[in-house]
Amino acid sequence: MAGPFGAELGGADVRRLDPAVLLQTAAERQLLVLRDQHFTPGELAQFAATLGPLDVYPYAEPLPDHPHVVAVIKNPQDTANFGGAWHSDTTYLAVPPGLTLLYAVEVPATGGDTLFADMCGAYQALSPALRDILDGLVGHNTSAMVHDRSGAHAAVAGESTQLRATAPAVAADHPVVRVHPVTGRPALFLSLIHTSHFVGMTREESLPLISFLQEFAVRPERCVRLRWQPGTLAIWDNRSLQHHPLNDYPGQRREMHRVILKGEPPQGRRQTSGSSIGVQVSME
Ligand code: SIN
Repeated sequence: MAGPFGAELGGADVRRLDPAVLLQTAAERQLLVLRDQHFTPGELAQFAATLGPLDVYPYAEPLPDHPHVVAVIKNPQDTANFGGAWHSDTTYLAVPPGLTLLYAVEVPATGGDTLFADMCGAYQALSPALRDILDGLVGHNTSAMVHDRSGAHAAVAGESTQLRATAPAVAADHPVVRVHPVTGRPALFLSLIHTSHFVGMTREESLPLISFLQEFAVRPERCVRLRWQPGTLAIWDNRSLQHHPLNDYPGQRREMHRVILKGEPPQGRRQTSGSSIGVQVSME
């Protein structure tokens, strides 16, 4: 693939590949893409379970009879798309998902690509003095900015992905720099839509740095752009990437099936005293 990470695995039914090799490759390459795969929702969940325990996304209704499969849909009349901003999936959980599997069922004739950005590369590109400051910071991540109707980023919930109206808001504190459990590489772990502030600072104090880091992290040289076809399966690593599905296909339909795999509590580079790193802190 063009870009600093990612791998397209050609000519293979992903189910015939060794799960241990797939997991190692996904951690190292951060994004795996396989074309011409054929999955019913049940088969997708069954395959995902060979890679690790399945997680439940708290804010959407899963497909009937498939508690781990969410249909990510944008219909022709919709203006907003689900997840339509830079983020790593569900970082407001105490244990955010490690890998996401996204399978393209229906894609627009043009548009609807997903961008991915390398959070390890972003961290490495920062000045050593700023890296040192970030190593000691903890971010407060909350679902409220997206999933509360009045949230600052409520449009990111989209319109046609079937959301659970009654799910309570959740929040968790995580190190701003996390160490990848497989590769050992440090990565930025915060986003404009989920991280409201740094623990011990006000939002006013935090937002300029969060905004700078978000913009810096997703500069073009750190990005890969995935063009979907029906039957494309992507497996990405939320511990080292952010993604952003583009909303550039008005009047067309897009449907993807998504499964997330349980991750592990994020570990920072430095033990930060007095913080509640990785702990679910509140129902907001
Ligand atoms: C998501 O953020 O999980 C959706 C990604 C996509 O639709 O490409």
